[in-house]
Amino acid sequence: MVAATLTVLTVLALLGSVSCQGGYGDRHQAPPPQPRAYPPPPTRPQPPAYPPITSQPRSYPPVIPNSPPPKISHPPSYPPTSPSSPPPPKPPQPPTYPPTSPSPPPPASPSPPTYPPTSPSPPPPMSSPPPPPVSPSPPPPVPPPSPDDAGKKLEVGYYNDKCGYHVDVEAIVRKHVSSFDNGMKAGLIRLFFHDCFIRGCDASILLDPTSDNQQPEKFGIPNFPSMRGYEVIDAAKAELEVACPSTVSCADIVAFAARDASFFLSGGAIDIAMPAGRYDGNVSLASETLPNLPPPFAGLQQLEKMFADKGLDAFDMVTLSGAHSIGRSHCSSFARDRLPPSAAASDMDSEFAAELQGNCTSSSASGRGDNTVVEDYETPDVLDNQYYQNVLDRKVLFTSDAALTTKDMTNNLVRVYAIFPWLWQQKFEEAMVKMSRIEIKTAATGEIRRTCRVVNTNP
Ligand code: HEM
Repeated sequence: MVAATLTVLTVLALLGSVSCQGGYGDRHQAPPPQPRAYPPPPTRPQPPAYPPITSQPRSYPPVIPNSPPPKISHPPSYPPTSPSSPPPPKPPQPPTYPPTSPSPPPPASPSPPTYPPTSPSPPPPMSSPPPPPVSPSPPPPVPPPSPDDAGKKLEVGYYNDKCGYHVDVEAIVRKHVSSFDNGMKAGLIRLFFHDCFIRGCDASILLDPTSDNQQPEKFGIPNFPSMRGYEVIDAAKAELEVACPSTVSCADIVAFAARDASFFLSGGAIDIAMPAGRYDGNVSLASETLPNLPPPFAGLQQLEKMFADKGLDAFDMVTLSGAHSIGRSHCSSFARDRLPPSAAASDMDSEFAAELQGNCTSSSASGRGDNTVVEDYETPDVLDNQYYQNVLDRKVLFTSDAALTTKDMTNNLVRVYAIFPWLWQQKFEEAMVKMSRIEIKTAATGEIRRTCRVVNTNP
């Protein structure tokens, strides 16, 4: 009774903050078929594109000086190689998340890490030498953002008058996003989140290693090797540089791509008015990933703190977590704290846990030690509010997902979102825009990169 009352009160509070502009009622009354500005892409089979992982015990954060490097059972393979295919080069450090390594995994070859390497357009080779192990002591978190005036100056339609009437910048990005599969689209939404949480939404996650900086963000443990989507940004940027040189920032392309991926994966129900005008940063450090990105075993307090550090509140955190209704996760990201026998404290539904355990120990998915599983077992390829029902049913992967029920406010919001898909969709749109305004660079503090993987000043 109390819970029901709280839920109703939460709904009423939320309804009070729902915008009535733009035909809110029309848009979200059931049934909610959304007008589509552009058609969703053809459904494609999901590539089982995840790398193997170590079987080392979990230690996250993995900052254990002098501890031995973890063993990797098999080299990464994207997509899984055929039985007759030779294995790809073996990195010196395992691609693990959560980390089991005392240091983030540096690349073995002069090539930059690509995830997954299923792209039709492989990245250009790097000439930089293999990076040395990263310092075992990451610096403290980047200070919380101050009130962000630059973020407020972003504009919807920013590029409408920047490239001539014949160049539709956002349409070019959308075209490239639509041409990739659903897994890559999920990766693009995560790419945006991970970019914005480190030095703001400035495309710092895209930078490749150089001789001066051999451990950029993309090699940080939360990103390597699980992050995917880089190739989509490369493809869009390449076309945009021909159509409209030195004008469209990589940071804006990342934001547009996340917007478009959300649209396609939600069947058009999530249509974010994404403002633009960001500039690209020129600092990218792997050591800043662990202090700034919440780990999958975080409890509610830690989650709230890490989002608050970025100017996002608990409401935003619960709302954005709904992105876990798409995509996949490595078993290593949740098995140790969530699956039996080591996870005695896990509240996961026992049948669900048993099924996951079977999928995670089976060699059928990757054959290489660290399988991946879908994040939303009900509607894995649809960005919808099913995630919240899964939270209530205790059928979610991460401790951080389950943690949403550990406090009245967040628990009530989960219950509301589980009931009202349209409400979550609208709030998700708003929260994505709010996230997109974190620590924005301007012409004075950033640049428009010509290539998203390299800063302009780099020879
Ligand atoms: C609340 C804190 C969060 C934590 C602890 C967290 C953690 C994780 C982890 C561990 C994975 C799986 C990585 C792997 O093993 O391959 C993952 C996947 C994913 N996350 Fe989150 N995440 C959080 C918030 C978010 C947010 C805010 C978004 C976006 C708005 C997001 C979007 C995604 C997506 C789309 C995937 C699937 C990616 C793919 O399939 O490539 N997550 N997350």
